Amino acid sequence: MDFRSIAEKRYTTQKYNVSRKISNSDIEDLKHILKLSPSSINSQPWLFTFVSNEQIKNELANASYSNAPKIKNASHLVVFSVMDNLEEFEKRVEENLLENSIKFYKQYIKTQSKEKTVNWLSHQVYITLGFFLAACASMEIDSTPMEGIDVGKYQNILNIKDHKVLFSVAIGYRDDNDITQPNLIGKSRLADDTVIQSID
Ligand SMILES: Cc1cc2nc3c(=O)[nH]c(=O)nc-3n(C[C@H](O)[C@H](O)[C@H](O)COP(=O)(O)O)c2cc1C
Repeated sequence: MDFRSIAEKRYTTQKYNVSRKISNSDIEDLKHILKLSPSSINSQPWLFTFVSNEQIKNELANASYSNAPKIKNASHLVVFSVMDNLEEFEKRVEENLLENSIKFYKQYIKTQSKEKTVNWLSHQVYITLGFFLAACASMEIDSTPMEGIDVGKYQNILNIKDHKVLFSVAIGYRDDNDITQPNLIGKSRLADDTVIQSID
């Protein structure tokens, strides 16, 4: 499928088919694809937690407000976190990045407040969200990106250290009766001339 069709067909799934699970090989592909996401100076300040364990997935669902039913019926929940232990992050930078990237980090990023640095790092994790949603759609896997979650509870349930949970994505296969499918209700987007300009 060409990318234009993928973009037109993907949607935030509201109802999953509880009996259809994603294959292990597709999950391995998604992990690999996430790792290949781009990031400024190749900083990769992320942690991706794939949850298929039903008990843990249900606990996370119960910490996800109105998103709970989607997560319970989805095949997997993927939790996206940003590294916020800057000492640890800087060790990684020193050990893995190219000299110019280390220089950029020290000169322009490290000199800011911790809040601004973690904010910059979080931007990198959000890039992976777009990458991931597109990858899922290209594999005909349905998805639900969610910021409507209790990140503090997620952090505790998953015992995540040195990172801050930002958002999660439920993945699986749609229930045929999901009334929010684009072939039933279309896509709701602002007009081209509101959001796109061309300087020719
Ligand atoms: C960062 C982010 C957070 C979102 N959080 C939620 C959420 O908590 N629950 C939900 O049902 N949809 C959530 N959405 C989905 C958006 O509402 C949805 O992408 C938007 O309305 C466009 O619809 P579409 O994805 O079906 O094209 C989120 C989307 C993004 C990108």
